[in-house]
Amino acid sequence: MCGIVGYIGGRQAQTILLNCLGRLEYRGYDSCGIAVAAEHTTVFKDAVRVKALAQTLPKLEGKTGIGHTRWATHGEPSMINAHPHCDCTGRIAVAHNGVINNSQKLKQQLVSEGHLFVSETDSEVIPHLIEKYYEDSLPKAVEAALHEIEGSYAIVVLMEGERELVVARKDSPLIIGIGDRENFIASDVPAILDYTSRVMYLEEGDVAVVTGDEVKVRGNGVEVAREEHKVPWTVKDAQRGGYEHFMLKEIHEQPKVVRDTLSEYISIAQPAADMTVVGGSGMEDILMLACGTSYHAALVGKYIIEQLVKIPVRVEIASEFSYSGRASARNKAIVISQSGETADVLKAIKQLKNEDCHVIAVTNVVGSTVSRIADQVVYTRAGPEISVAATKSFVAQLIALYWLTLPYSRVDIRQLDEMVLGLRQLPGKIQQVFDNEEAIKSLAAEFARFNNAFFVGRGINYPIALEGALKLKEISYIHAEGYSAGELKHGPFALLGPETPVVAVVARDNTYEAMLANIKEVKARKSPVLALVEDDDDEVSGLADWIIPVPGVDALFSPVVNVVVLQLLAYYTAKQRGCPIDFPRNLAKSVTVE
Ligand code: F6R
Repeated sequence: MCGIVGYIGGRQAQTILLNCLGRLEYRGYDSCGIAVAAEHTTVFKDAVRVKALAQTLPKLEGKTGIGHTRWATHGEPSMINAHPHCDCTGRIAVAHNGVINNSQKLKQQLVSEGHLFVSETDSEVIPHLIEKYYEDSLPKAVEAALHEIEGSYAIVVLMEGERELVVARKDSPLIIGIGDRENFIASDVPAILDYTSRVMYLEEGDVAVVTGDEVKVRGNGVEVAREEHKVPWTVKDAQRGGYEHFMLKEIHEQPKVVRDTLSEYISIAQPAADMTVVGGSGMEDILMLACGTSYHAALVGKYIIEQLVKIPVRVEIASEFSYSGRASARNKAIVISQSGETADVLKAIKQLKNEDCHVIAVTNVVGSTVSRIADQVVYTRAGPEISVAATKSFVAQLIALYWLTLPYSRVDIRQLDEMVLGLRQLPGKIQQVFDNEEAIKSLAAEFARFNNAFFVGRGINYPIALEGALKLKEISYIHAEGYSAGELKHGPFALLGPETPVVAVVARDNTYEAMLANIKEVKARKSPVLALVEDDDDEVSGLADWIIPVPGVDALFSPVVNVVVLQLLAYYTAKQRGCPIDFPRNLAKSVTVE
């Protein structure tokens, strides 16, 4: 949430900053701004999207600059609350991600010392603190200011007349992109892919001084070396590539994502090396933690592991973990996070580590905080996910979970071979879902008129019902609830009727008969039923009002094809309702605040 960029080098900063900010808008899009410094610092900001800001900007001279795109936490989206924020003199400008917990206290103190504040943000204390401590060195003043701050931050600071940017991070991500006699700052890699794929990840508490020619990093007050890495993503990966929305592009990338993720794992010489978490000898239970869509992947993981390995799995929402208790008996946990930056997940990992728990992270972002603090990392190969609504990362997480589990499954070798074959066939099966896309689109046109919906499933498809409901609500704003099909009669039945459709995810497994009975109950309450069923199913088809046929796969893998159908249903429903699909109201990618 919130995106930061910075540039210093031989080129005019303005165009580069706006371009980088445009690539970062998925991090927050309620307001944005840039500051460019030459002899003077000039700031332009407004409660508009980056494109609109760019249209109103005059030409700003300056080869050093910073920018920010905001997702409001303290203070409503407005021009005044947008970043960058300045000190009293207007010479120092700061873009900040994170939350300053002691901002009120600091502000009171600074006001009593004569500082004038204009915004409602917590961030504005930072430039004022820097101003207070500035004598002759910007880096020293920044370090002194950071000493006073409690909370999380990624900051980039510029000052007029100085050919350097000062950056720092704690509990909020920040990277430095290394160019040829120019350097870039960003909160996320996709921001800078147009310019460089060489990056340096800052560690917790680092403060760096960045000029066009060099990067000097200090950690714990002493100079430290931070390695340069090559990012495995290309500019093309982070572009819309002819699709109307990133979400649709990313839905369509899923066959490739499954192939890439599988071939990555298959190419690892000893695939089991990372995976003893699932079935290592003496393993008694497993704890899984995640948020949102990744939590739904963890729930599917529970069914996969319990079914195949026969050990109990406890799945918890990361933000609840600190209230609910302890790690698993054997102190091993799998933590899932696409971005690797979700604050609640990071907090849970820290708690797990305090309990001496061995943490295995499943993440999509190389170099993310989760990947650096976990004991082991399993990367998904979904490529950059720009759409706020997660799609391809979810499917990649499922593939990772299948792959982690298979080596330990209590099945014979013939069944194991069949499962591996089933996994390899999934890209083709997803492709078959796309063959039906026009029908899903037409159905979505009808579905779009409803204001409430239930999604139901059983067994391994229960989490898919949860995920289908989440996708629909976040991008189409239809109120949707996911339920285990058996639970509907324990309360939600009161809401059924002709204006409340029920989407039923039906798999050909031991849940089939019960799902059939549940659909009959729903029909008796006059709710229209939209059922996802295998191609050749007659029974459910005879009952449901609408059918979406899905290609037949082993029930264990049915979540993968079913979720793609529900992603498309959500997408086309939102499109029909005219919603801003890639920029859903009040949301932003990567939730870096608790
Ligand atoms: C929904 C969505 C969110 C994320 C959640 C966790 O489409 O994207 O629910 O899944 O914020 O994010 P990560 O996986 O980055 O920890």
